[in-house]
Amino acid sequence: MPGAKTTHTMTLMSNSPHETQAIGRRIGSFMIEGRSVFISGELGAGKTTLIKGAGSAFGIPERDITSATYTIIAEYMGSVPFYHIDLYRLDNVNEIEEAGVFDCIGQGKAAAVEWAEKLDGSLSADISIAIAYGENDTRLITIEGIDEKDWDSNQTG
Ligand SMILES: Nc1ncnc2c1ncn2[C@@H]1O[C@H](COP(=O)(O)OP(=O)(O)OP(=O)(O)O)[C@@H](O)[C@H]1O
Ligand SMILES: [Mg+2]
Repeated sequence: MPGAKTTHTMTLMSNSPHETQAIGRRIGSFMIEGRSVFISGELGAGKTTLIKGAGSAFGIPERDITSATYTIIAEYMGSVPFYHIDLYRLDNVNEIEEAGVFDCIGQGKAAAVEWAEKLDGSLSADISIAIAYGENDTRLITIEGIDEKDWDSNQTG
C-alpha cells in the first residue's frame, strides 16, 4: 500500500552489560540526527546501561551517564545535545510536563527516556525499546522503529 507505515520490530539477546551497551551504541547511531527513544523494562533491566551505550555514539563518556536519584532530565553536550530522561520518580503526565520533559522530546531532539510508559501515550517515540529479563544475565531487547536492513548495514558502532 503506498504510504503505508510499516513497523519494524526485532529482538536481540544480550548476555552481559557490555553487550547491552554495544547494542545501545548502535541504537545511538540512529539517534544522531535527532530521534527519541523510549525504553521500558523492570527495575534493573538495563535501561541506563543501554543509554550509556547510546550516549557513547555522541562521544559522551559512559561514566558521565548515571542514574542520579533526583535527576529527571540530564542534558549532555555530545556531538549534538543528548537528553537522558528518567521518569521513575514522576507520578503522572502533568508532573512530567511540568518537569519540562515535553520540551526535550520530538522536534528533532535526541532523547532517551526511561520509564516512558508513564507518559501514557501522550508523546510518541521514533524508536521504542523493551528490555526483558532472561535467564542469568541475559536480556531480551526488542527494538521497534529501526529497519533491520538499516541495522545490519550500520556496523560502525
Ligand atoms: N545483559 C545485561 N544487560 C544489562 N544489564 C545487565 C545485564 N546482565 C546483568 N546486568 C546488570 O543489571 C543492572 C542493570 O542496571 P541499570 O541501571 O542499567 O538498569 P535500569 O533498567 O536502568 O534500572 P532502573 O529501573 O533502576 O533505572 C546492572 O547492575 C548490570 O550490571
Ligand atoms: Mg535506570
